Amino acid sequence: MTTAHAAAPLRARASRSLTGRIGVPGDKSISHRALILGAMATGETAITGLLEGEDVLRTADAMTALGAIMTRAGEGAWRVSGVGTGGLSEPDRVLDHGNSGTGVRLVMGAVATTPIACTFTGDASLCRRPMGRVLEPLSRFGTESMGRAGGRLPLTLRGAANPMPVVYASPVASAQVKSAILLAGLNAPGRTTVIERESTRDHTERMLRAFGARVDVEPHEDGTAVTVTGEAELSATAIAVPGDPSSAAFPLAAALIVPDSDVTVEGVLLNPTRAGLYETLREMGASLDILDARDAGGEPVASLRARFSALKGIEVPPERAPSMIDEYPILAVLAAFAEGRTVMRGLKELRVKESDRLVAMARGLAACGVAVTELEDGLIIEGGGPGSMPGGVGIATEMDHRIAMSFLVAGLAARAPVTVDDSAFIATSFPGFSELMTRLGGSLERVNR
Ligand code: S3P
Repeated sequence: MTTAHAAAPLRARASRSLTGRIGVPGDKSISHRALILGAMATGETAITGLLEGEDVLRTADAMTALGAIMTRAGEGAWRVSGVGTGGLSEPDRVLDHGNSGTGVRLVMGAVATTPIACTFTGDASLCRRPMGRVLEPLSRFGTESMGRAGGRLPLTLRGAANPMPVVYASPVASAQVKSAILLAGLNAPGRTTVIERESTRDHTERMLRAFGARVDVEPHEDGTAVTVTGEAELSATAIAVPGDPSSAAFPLAAALIVPDSDVTVEGVLLNPTRAGLYETLREMGASLDILDARDAGGEPVASLRARFSALKGIEVPPERAPSMIDEYPILAVLAAFAEGRTVMRGLKELRVKESDRLVAMARGLAACGVAVTELEDGLIIEGGGPGSMPGGVGIATEMDHRIAMSFLVAGLAARAPVTVDDSAFIATSFPGFSELMTRLGGSLERVNR
């Protein structure tokens, strides 16, 4: 979707009830990492449950351009023949990561300590997002780069020929920054450490260990120190990708606000660094059950059952933000259907996602008739309770899949339909979203412009 595409408006209208048992596509974060680490390992990595969304397919394409061999054996079943750490080869084309910040930042890390030149680009949304947060720490390995002001894409990076190991205290709570540094550290001598003030998703650490790398996680006076031992030999492994909790959030949220609903999503990743939304929903009084909790390939997984609930507004603890960072747009919709005030703060990072999500949610909710205040680092939402949202508007999704899905969920419970201007970006993370919501009983229809 880097080149101009035909916008696909989609309308959601009040639905009777949502019921059923479903699965959601594979976790996006784990899918990117499986392809990247598979490409940097020796041997053949077998992946099942891979998210075949636009973002992840761009990563597959980039790793192919860097020399790995990717074979699709069936739906979500991929085989990756890797080139070994340090074995990535210079691509003869520009690496276009489309809408994906995770894809581009992790691949930059993966190439940063191999002496090859790579040029990266993305769509209009990605070209607005800051890359300096990754380029600055990578420069400490000896990586050179030249991009637009603020390190923005398109940019060219030349990997370090004689990399130095790095110790980096990250000023932003970002798993993408942490992961880029750890991936760069794989091909540097010695120990590379990232110090995190707040812990962010730890899929890179878990998966590096599964591929045989040494990763140490230790308390540090400024938080947690995550260290990878470099010149690592990664060995191919099998990876089963669990369902994405950030995608499961949408059908579960819809069930909480559409009367008489009862929806179960099976096989959802419940890694504690990703499960903040579910803790928050329980505090809001949601009927949410965790069933069949188990360990699947080193990650906790469970089925989640949500039923229509009388939600109440709460103050969301700001320190919970890293574990639910992608879930604030849908939480903001739920807060509008809760009784009373919800305050969410500590969310400056939302301004540099696929869109400025604080602006997009504040504007969209206000248009839907909700009383909302935009703060510098958050939102205050005055919830009116079940059935309170007037709706009846069109929403600008700003090339942001989660803004599109959040307002479609709102429309399923609003008094008048909600139309999003472009649903095409939903395919970056949740292909089949509208079919799946329709199967549950949601009323979604394409709109001709
Ligand atoms: C991700 C990290 C988060 C998150 C993104 C996926 C990852 O971004 O918002 O959707 O897979 O590492 P930040 O690292 O910018 O917080």
